[in-house]
Amino acid sequence: MLPWFVPAFKIMRNVDAAAGLKINIGAGLSGAAGWFNIDNSPTVLISRIPLARKLLKTPQWPKDVRRFDVRKGLPFPDQSAIYIYSSHTFEHFTWAESVVVAKECFRVLRPGGVVRIVVPDLELIVRRYLAEGDALASQRFLQRLSLSHTFHDLIHPGANHSQMFDRRSLIHLLQTAGFDKPEVSQFMQSRIPEVGRLDLEQRKSESLYVESLR
Ligand SMILES: C[S@@+](CC[C@H](N)C(=O)[O-])C[C@H]1O[C@@H](n2cnc3c(N)ncnc32)[C@H](O)[C@@H]1O
Repeated sequence: MLPWFVPAFKIMRNVDAAAGLKINIGAGLSGAAGWFNIDNSPTVLISRIPLARKLLKTPQWPKDVRRFDVRKGLPFPDQSAIYIYSSHTFEHFTWAESVVVAKECFRVLRPGGVVRIVVPDLELIVRRYLAEGDALASQRFLQRLSLSHTFHDLIHPGANHSQMFDRRSLIHLLQTAGFDKPEVSQFMQSRIPEVGRLDLEQRKSESLYVESLR
């Protein structure tokens, strides 16, 4: 693993992809060891400076999380990865951006590799709204969608959503990117052996899991 100060875009020049890379897009604070954990939050860099971290109260980002905006593409060679994982990040892209990132996943994965995308499940949120039925259910429904953008997004790109997925739209996204047979999966059920270090318990009740072979 290269030191944290090597910018992510330089990784592709130095990376040894012989064994197949493992990439976590929008890892947040929960990236797994041995993976390329990528996140676009400016606080990744701020938190490296102890005084700035203290003053601005940024989270203590793990050293192996690299700051990079994946909407610019993935900084890795063609067919260099065996696994690409992403949890609760694709909903922060617009549809057009998510198509770009999904196509990048297809480019970077080698045949036989696996992509696993986890997002908040729009269908679950709608079902909950319909089941609640009280006077403020509509307010809670809109809050859960979290589709408005604020100044806070600049500091925390994971604060609000730009779109929401149900199973049909997430499968369609991966098919648009070139994946043959994306399928709905379940919490901790995956072709990725390390899924136990990736799927988060606290996301289980709200998430849609879709996975595909390349
Ligand atoms: C809601 S958090 C999810 C974190 C973690 N994966 C989880 O499931 O708890 C979304 C993360 O995606 C990151 N993110 C948003 N846009 C991004 C982008 N364009 N490139 C890379 N990371 C991005 C945010 O900084 C944030 O840490």
